[in-house]
Amino acid sequence: MRKQIAAANWKMNLTLQQGEELLKGILANAKTLNENQQVIFAVPSPYLQAANTIVGETKNNFVAAQNIYSKKSGAYTGEVSVEMLQSLNIQFAVIGHSERREYFGESNTFLADKVNIALENNITPIFCCGEPLEVREAEGQNAFVAKQLEESLFHLSSEEIKKVVIAYEPIWAIGTGKTATSEQAQEIHQYLRSVIANKYGATTADEISILYGGSVKAANAKELFSQPDIDGGLVGGAALKVDEFVSIIDALN
Ligand code: G3P
Repeated sequence: MRKQIAAANWKMNLTLQQGEELLKGILANAKTLNENQQVIFAVPSPYLQAANTIVGETKNNFVAAQNIYSKKSGAYTGEVSVEMLQSLNIQFAVIGHSERREYFGESNTFLADKVNIALENNITPIFCCGEPLEVREAEGQNAFVAKQLEESLFHLSSEEIKKVVIAYEPIWAIGTGKTATSEQAQEIHQYLRSVIANKYGATTADEISILYGGSVKAANAKELFSQPDIDGGLVGGAALKVDEFVSIIDALN
């Protein structure tokens, strides 16, 4: 059975003190997770260690980096490596968020290198894909996201791709308050799974968690997460509030 995941992406928000308070508040109020459920907090890199200490003793809660570089170490000023994450016992990294693609020019092929170095070093990639508004308006979303998967993930073996978590985040729904309807989201998640099934077979495709991201909140999480191909969410704004994110965790199947 594939994992059901509530992932928080704090982006470039909060001071350390605010972050610690938020994390403690969420952990104190969230339901106990079962074996099949995970909660992942993608925090800013200066807070990774502090967050991991807080999450440390709890069950099925994890900390993720929001980004990694494609090289293991070296003269890459300002970057964060998988080796650094390993030394902090961090097991997850978000890769290819649309904000990285848009503001930092990250291409599908560059992201393939990041996926590789993550997997080679036992870091689980939370690989983001999703189309911009103009592509959705022209009904080109399926081809767009399929290309993102093909160019960044489809060089992997089936054993490797099973270790990847995919997050579908339509860019027009990020931070806009405009969520994809649960039907729209289910439709494209089902399509993504079928693209993976065509390449790797249905058994492999069935094992991969595909999260939805884009204005997920307490009020819509239950309906989104109840769709058969939606295995949880990657949450921005609503993950910065204790009550909202606790309700989103509660909505996990
Ligand atoms: O990675 C999460 C994300 O981009 C969605 O942000 O604020 O729409 O939940 P938000």
